[in-house]
Amino acid sequence: MIVSLIAAIDRRGGMGWDGGLPWHLTDDLKHFKRRTMGHHLILGRKTFDGLDVTLSGRSLIVLSRDASYKAEGAQVAGSLAEALALAEAAGEDEAFVGGGAEVFAEALAGADRLYLTRVEAEVEADVFFPELDENKWELLGEEAFVQGRKNDFGFAIQVLGRAK
Ligand SMILES: NC(=O)c1ccc[n+]([C@@H]2O[C@H](COP(=O)([O-])OP(=O)(O)OC[C@H]3O[C@@H](n4cnc5c(N)ncnc54)[C@H](OP(=O)(O)O)[C@@H]3O)[C@@H](O)[C@H]2O)c1
Repeated sequence: MIVSLIAAIDRRGGMGWDGGLPWHLTDDLKHFKRRTMGHHLILGRKTFDGLDVTLSGRSLIVLSRDASYKAEGAQVAGSLAEALALAEAAGEDEAFVGGGAEVFAEALAGADRLYLTRVEAEVEADVFFPELDENKWELLGEEAFVQGRKNDFGFAIQVLGRAK
């Protein structure tokens, strides 16, 4: 099983504001759906609680250290290792870690692939993606999207793999 992180970040790594996303990017949401559909998707409790959409078609695992926490429509795991073990035991081939910042900070070191949406903006943010050592990653693909009615900003979706 490979472990992939999927995130959207601005030029400074900003990725959230006040419990939600700091932008509306329809084409990126479509990409997120397409990539994660049918797979295990691991989310931090704060991200899960802040969702304003239902993530049907994904096997959701929510991380919480609160043993009494219940998440409707999702399994709950007490650690990242436990979440990954649940996905692997279910026969998953690519498990997605979908944030937020606290979960990315832990998961980056063990990630095999990054789907990184680079938003062409500097927005007000209160959570940030961890620092990325660009030498450790190689660009496998990139697709650009323009600003417009559907997307607050232009952005490029990059697929990055571990540098050989
Ligand atoms: N731009 C993007 O791609 C993107 C993606 C996702 C989220 N976001 C944004 O990011 C923000 C939320 O991020 P955040 O860093 O504040 O919170 P978060 O990572 O979503 O959730 C943090 C919570 O997850 C649980 N948790 C984290 N690591 C854990 C571990 N190793 N073991 C067990 N439980 C663990 C804890 O829950 P308990 O407190 O219950 O113990 C912790 O308080 C929001 O603004 C959201 O919109 C942006």
